[in-house]
Amino acid sequence: MQEVKDKFRESMSRLASGVTVVMTEVDGRPWGLTVSACCSLSMEPPLILVSLATKAASTQAIINFNRFSVSILAEDQVEVAKLGAKPGAPKFFEDFVETDDGFHYDVKDALANIHCRVEQIIPAGDHTIFIGYVENVLLGEEKSPLLYFGRQFGVFNTGLTG
Ligand SMILES: Cc1cc2nc3c(=O)[nH]c(=O)nc-3n(C[C@H](O)[C@H](O)[C@H](O)COP(=O)(O)O)c2cc1C
Repeated sequence: MQEVKDKFRESMSRLASGVTVVMTEVDGRPWGLTVSACCSLSMEPPLILVSLATKAASTQAIINFNRFSVSILAEDQVEVAKLGAKPGAPKFFEDFVETDDGFHYDVKDALANIHCRVEQIIPAGDHTIFIGYVENVLLGEEKSPLLYFGRQFGVFNTGLTG
């Protein structure tokens, strides 16, 4: 079984993905976690899915706050992604956050910020799946996306400037 798990981990590193930061609130301050396990789930109603390690501080924070935002990162936002991926470190995001409607925090200059209310929470192995009801979307400038592949950040050449 260990061999299968190792190969499974390796296989997933070969799936290129976009990079998001899932923002929520901790102690009244913005807090973000870097997440690639994110996909749109439904348009009617508008639902989005993110999967977070259950032991991540963000998981309990989202359960407490009942709201989260998904910020889709642009190619020039590697530093933002690295902050949200630092194991065990506090992930307060004041330096990268722009607005707050009282319920949501937006990563400045992200490609999009998707505001969600928690609709459903599903335990799945060592992760927790959050299904969010999309309450609002703020579209940023159209720029090239930040990607993750082979445990490295990279870019997709869209011809758009980052
Ligand atoms: C590109 C990238 C994508 C990631 N995607 C996820 C993800 O989908 N879900 C998750 O729980 N962690 C994901 N992680 C790992 C977390 O960001 C990282 O483990 C974080 O440090 C955990 O925070 P914690 O130490 O507060 O638990 C990803 C990391 C990177 C660099």
